Amino acid sequence: MGISVGLVGLGAFGSAFADLFRRHPLVDRVGLCDREPERVARFANDPAFRRKFDPRDAYASLDDICRSDLDALVIITQPWLHAPQCLQGMEAGKHVYSAVPISSVPDGNEILDWCDKLVDTCRRTGQLYMLGETTYYHADAMYCRRQAAQGAFGDFVFCEGEYFHDVDAACNLREVQRHRLASKAGQEWVALSKQYHDRGIRSGPMHYPTHSTSGPVCVMNAHAVEVTCYGHRNRTDDPFFQDSAFSNETAFFKMSNGAVVRICEYREIGLPGNETFRVFGTKGSYTAHTWCDNKTATQLTVEEMRDPLPPEVEAAFREGQTESAAYGGHGGSHAYLVHEFVDAVAHQRQPATNIWEAARYMAMGAMAHESALKDGARLSVPDWGDAPGEEG
Ligand SMILES: NC(=O)c1ccc[n+]([C@@H]2O[C@H](COP(=O)([O-])OP(=O)(O)OC[C@H]3O[C@@H](n4cnc5c(N)ncnc54)[C@H](O)[C@@H]3O)[C@@H](O)[C@H]2O)c1
Repeated sequence: MGISVGLVGLGAFGSAFADLFRRHPLVDRVGLCDREPERVARFANDPAFRRKFDPRDAYASLDDICRSDLDALVIITQPWLHAPQCLQGMEAGKHVYSAVPISSVPDGNEILDWCDKLVDTCRRTGQLYMLGETTYYHADAMYCRRQAAQGAFGDFVFCEGEYFHDVDAACNLREVQRHRLASKAGQEWVALSKQYHDRGIRSGPMHYPTHSTSGPVCVMNAHAVEVTCYGHRNRTDDPFFQDSAFSNETAFFKMSNGAVVRICEYREIGLPGNETFRVFGTKGSYTAHTWCDNKTATQLTVEEMRDPLPPEVEAAFREGQTESAAYGGHGGSHAYLVHEFVDAVAHQRQPATNIWEAARYMAMGAMAHESALKDGARLSVPDWGDAPGEEG
């Protein structure tokens, strides 16, 4: 028997997932929820949704959909809302999928507190939590995890991860912010964020760290122990950075396996957008679609690197679609994210990017920003351990 899934947040990014959830063969029923009625109507009126969507499953708020009998919620709302909404969903008996990051609010202590509460809620309720980290399902991450499982890297020495996204890049962050603040939920945040500003709390790009930290963490299966980080302050009085202590942050981590990791989160940088990582080991290394040992370098295609999807899932995603639409955006990761969550819920197992794994990505960013605020002070990074059943 399949599962039922409620899609909460049908804005710019949530809309990109609706059709993949509808198509998944293990999804029997889809609910639609947004505070902006026209965003629900767009899918409710789509004939393709008729077979799995009943108009009674249209909801105008998270509170309403939490009262439904749907099994799981996919929460793709604005980044400051994810953690409290996931908590509310799990307390209402739902499994939850969260867009990244776990939480992005200006106060790093509050972010760590949300990690703590979510771990506790998963343990206490037994509900499943999955972070929808796109980098985790980039083809290179899948390939590097397979190489790591076979010991092909030898001992891990060093990793680099980076998320370069200039504020005026092709995907323009000023436009993204304007759009996110234009809705009812966005307007509430304008008032709330002023409270952080008045308390003198300034955020930074390390509060959105999961695209850069997840690669090294998931490939090495190691967590950060200590960090030192430096920030670059915007020097042009750009209003986009008025609530940020830094526009760019660069951090070094000592990892639990003895390796060193360098992470860059840059929002003011003269480079095209880039979201990637490199891994260096004593026997083998991975960089830019290339596997290397000390004598050879082998170029790899995306098809060679990515894991196969179950044939019936791939067929359902591909039906009537182009190759790129079948796998979805962000390096074809969307298809894998949808499958991983649906399959985990259907089989009552922890998803790969469960809260214990996701908290490792997030804590690195929160503590890196704290270090940058203290001009590179060396700080410990908290860890919540492995998911139940995976303890080493
Ligand atoms: N690569 C990636 O992983 C990636 C890329 C883009 C965006 N994102 C994440 O996706 C999230 C959504 O971004 P977006 O650009 O789609 O934002 P958006 O503002 O376009 O959409 C958010 C939607 O959530 C709805 N919403 C908020 N609170 C609600 C509630 N209580 N009940 C029902 N609906 C509610 C809003 O009305 C809005 O339509 C962000 O958190 C962002 O971090 C991740």
